[in-house]
Amino acid sequence: MSKTVFTKTFGCQMNERDSEIMEQLLAQAGYIPVAEQSGADLVILNTCSIRAKAEQKVFSLLGMLRKQKKEQPGLRIVVAGCVAQQEGQQIFKRMPHVDIVVGTQQIYQLPDMLLRLEQGETKREISCDMEKSFSIPPFQKLLSPSPALTEFRKFVTIMQGCNNFCTYCVVPSTRGREISRPVADILEEVTLLTQQGVKEITLLGQNVNSYGCTNPVAEQKTGFADLLRLTAKMSGVDRLRFTTSNPQDLSSGLMQCFKDIPNLCPHFHLPVQAGSNSVLKKMHRKYTRELYLEKVDQLRSFCPEIAISTDVIVGFPGESEEDFQQTMEILETVRFHGSFSFKYSDRPNTRSADFADKVDEKVKGERLKRFQDRQDQISLERNREYIGTSVEVMVEKCKPGSIQARTRSNHIVHFPAPVETSVNLQLGDTTLVTINHAGKHSLNGVLTE
Ligand code: 5AD
Ligand code: SF4
Repeated sequence: MSKTVFTKTFGCQMNERDSEIMEQLLAQAGYIPVAEQSGADLVILNTCSIRAKAEQKVFSLLGMLRKQKKEQPGLRIVVAGCVAQQEGQQIFKRMPHVDIVVGTQQIYQLPDMLLRLEQGETKREISCDMEKSFSIPPFQKLLSPSPALTEFRKFVTIMQGCNNFCTYCVVPSTRGREISRPVADILEEVTLLTQQGVKEITLLGQNVNSYGCTNPVAEQKTGFADLLRLTAKMSGVDRLRFTTSNPQDLSSGLMQCFKDIPNLCPHFHLPVQAGSNSVLKKMHRKYTRELYLEKVDQLRSFCPEIAISTDVIVGFPGESEEDFQQTMEILETVRFHGSFSFKYSDRPNTRSADFADKVDEKVKGERLKRFQDRQDQISLERNREYIGTSVEVMVEKCKPGSIQARTRSNHIVHFPAPVETSVNLQLGDTTLVTINHAGKHSLNGVLTE
């Protein structure tokens, strides 16, 4: 009899894509994916360790699963992702009911690991060994997407890992060094996806700007801008996006793409992290506030309508009120369309965890609120600029009477479903909508006449 698998994904799009890969591999091994945790034979937690809060969520969910396993002893629990990579077999000490720990580069081995567990090998023999886990290269297999694919937006991983070693960041230790995936594999995957009806592709990597500068494809001489141009030309790619970029490596060649490539969506996520040069230096970000602002200006000169979003950390060790004011100044100058902002938290195996001058939690909380309140006002003002304009949207959710769609600039738009049956909008269709109302997180409109 087939077994069921429930996957819970935390963290970034990289993890979402890894979860899909694990589910696809397990489907080939006879597992049926289910949307509910209760009753599933196998539960996979694909974890994130980027901030302390993300990791706490994983452990509290694991605590709850302990009870479930008592009632359902056959339940198998797998911990994958960045917490798995970080903790390795240490997880068994704290959570002995976990059956397998899968490292970030071991996802392709999961079906085999489960089989070995059923055949009586111990979980310690099977699970992620921190020392050895990075010896297996990622992207071992090109997976064909499942035939039942209904989505029209898909992520394609183009590289893994990061070589930047920002002092606050777990990624180099949880995902290893940068490895770029061969161009031919990426394009083959895009072809498979578009043949199955996918219309929007997002190229994924921790630091896409350095695509091709790292093994094993450095000899191919295809940089990220070249890869974007190649992907954009493929038939069926209506919309192309990418994430994430480090400002230090943002080349004018990449900026030029926003001018030249019609299906490249005018949205750029460019994490600034902090506005003070001394904080940026302590973070080991290799740009200054001046260079960041220059890149933003340049980007806007190539593509005036581009929507820019960012990530910000407040309360990095040693951040003074004056330093924080400089982050607020960057917000006022760039007027980001949106941002993700976080209180700094110490992470294992990072340099900043050992820095002195930690900022008081209360001060961090108060700075975060000031930043977020001002960002909300700016987002609202920015969103109001769209009122009265007609924008192209791609439909992503159809509810009775109402449709949710996304603009090329990555804004969510809600509009009433057309009443005439002749206009039958399906997921992934594009249409024009005239914006008549703006909130801070989304827009509203009506179908353009
Ligand atoms: N504390 C707080 N925020 C962090 N980020 C990364 N590491 C930390 C940390 N230790 C944030 C950064 C990054 C985003 C994904 O998470 O802003 O861009
Ligand atoms: Fe979280 Fe970073 Fe790992 Fe993504 S790569 S899951 S954001 S820790």
